[in-house]
Amino acid sequence: MRILNVGMFGLGNVGSGVARILNSNREIIEGRLGAGLRITRALVRDTGKPRDPATREIQFTTRIEDILEDPSIPVVVEVMGGVEPAHEFVSRAIRAGKHVVTANKSLLAAHGEEIFALADDADVDVYFEAAVGGAVPIIRTLREAMSSDRVSSLYGIMNGTSNFILSRMEAQKTSFESALAEAQRLGFAEPDPSMDIDGNDVAQKLSILTNLGFGANIPERNIYVEGIRSISLDDFRYGDEFGYTIRLLGIARQKAGRLDVRVHPVFVHKEHLLASVDGELNAFFVVCDAQGPSMLYGRGAGAMPTGSAIVADLIDVARNVMADSPARLSARQLWGRAHASPPQMDMGALECRYYLRFQVEDRSGVLGSIASVFGERGISLSDVIQRDRSSSQGNAVQVIFMTHESHEHKVQAALKIINAQEYVRGPAQVIRIEPELSAP
Ligand code: NAP
Ligand code: HSE
Repeated sequence: MRILNVGMFGLGNVGSGVARILNSNREIIEGRLGAGLRITRALVRDTGKPRDPATREIQFTTRIEDILEDPSIPVVVEVMGGVEPAHEFVSRAIRAGKHVVTANKSLLAAHGEEIFALADDADVDVYFEAAVGGAVPIIRTLREAMSSDRVSSLYGIMNGTSNFILSRMEAQKTSFESALAEAQRLGFAEPDPSMDIDGNDVAQKLSILTNLGFGANIPERNIYVEGIRSISLDDFRYGDEFGYTIRLLGIARQKAGRLDVRVHPVFVHKEHLLASVDGELNAFFVVCDAQGPSMLYGRGAGAMPTGSAIVADLIDVARNVMADSPARLSARQLWGRAHASPPQMDMGALECRYYLRFQVEDRSGVLGSIASVFGERGISLSDVIQRDRSSSQGNAVQVIFMTHESHEHKVQAALKIINAQEYVRGPAQVIRIEPELSAP
């Protein structure tokens, strides 16, 4: 039987998952592929580190040349993480004629266009299913199952850590801080959780998906991002009164000839499919013109789910190698520029309903003063809630306004004025209500 040798750039958490799957599923993989896959060499920082037993037969090295100059290795798996030196190493592997499978969203969000152009020039494959959604096959789905269709909108729960925290807060009525501490205890959240809870991880993944789904190359820095640090139990409580829960979403949708791309917490109707995605799971709700809506759902992280997506990519690459058909799917055509994409929409032009929660001094005229700022800017209110003061709030109360469809730029202008009033205690909490997700 033909054996394809695999080189690894990195063999930590995810790399060990790849090694374990190749060992435990060897027979299944060989049956389906008609060939074997063996990891022969792995580039790491420290060759003396204790490793997973599944890596016993692998030669470890700290010299990338040991892999690049080995003609028996046609494909490398990059699971080092970070932008540099992964960018340099992947570029060198492509120039050396190696196919690449990567799980690295930071690398692709920063240098995807260059890497895919390089791959096309070298006639090699670059596969990256594990970079977005772990085991959830959103890349394959956009690239293949939806290749005949026009994607009109995509809503993704793409960060398991944030979703775990939000669903824990809701289910256990616990604070953001204690849900985060629990996520860290269970190993879902990093000691520094900023990338996950501030929305940057989602923005990198969304940048990749806008390339595949919309042919638009929108870098992370051009994506509007808000994280979940300011979400409180009050927001869940008031949201519940209107039938909503809260999810951190990556959103890309075509609207009035523009591409609307953003990351922020969203009120989702409790009976919408996305509201049922709890814990560390990921989900992608995609609406296409011909297919209509679909949802993919599953594990977005972890050594085995992520390793499984990587091994499936390896099998695809191996099939291309065996059919002597490398770069069958032109990488450059997948990445941006595949078709004329609409220009990006300015965040100020967003139109949706808003939930606005203020902490204000409890005295006469305050409610009227806030409402008049909205009225003067043409922002129409649908609901107002004010509850009795609680003992912990002193003479402050929470006031909640729900708006009808309004423009972001008008809402932000109104908030700037209201937040500066002497009766307001701290900036308003803003949660957008997504029209397409506000009903079951
Ligand atoms: P990890 O456990 O930290 O492993 C990183 C590996 O890369 C280690 O083997 C390390 O060597 C090696 N490495 C790092 N820098 C290196 C350098 N400069 N030169 C040589 N080797 C280097 O990371 P991971 O959790 O497996 O994540 C890997 C990638 O998968 C990242 O891009 C991540 O975003 C992506 N990903 C991870 C998950 C997940 O659940 N963890 C899910 C989806 C995608 P040593 O072993 O010697 O330290
Ligand atoms: N840290 C990410 C998450 C997984 O929490 O979903 C890797 O992208």
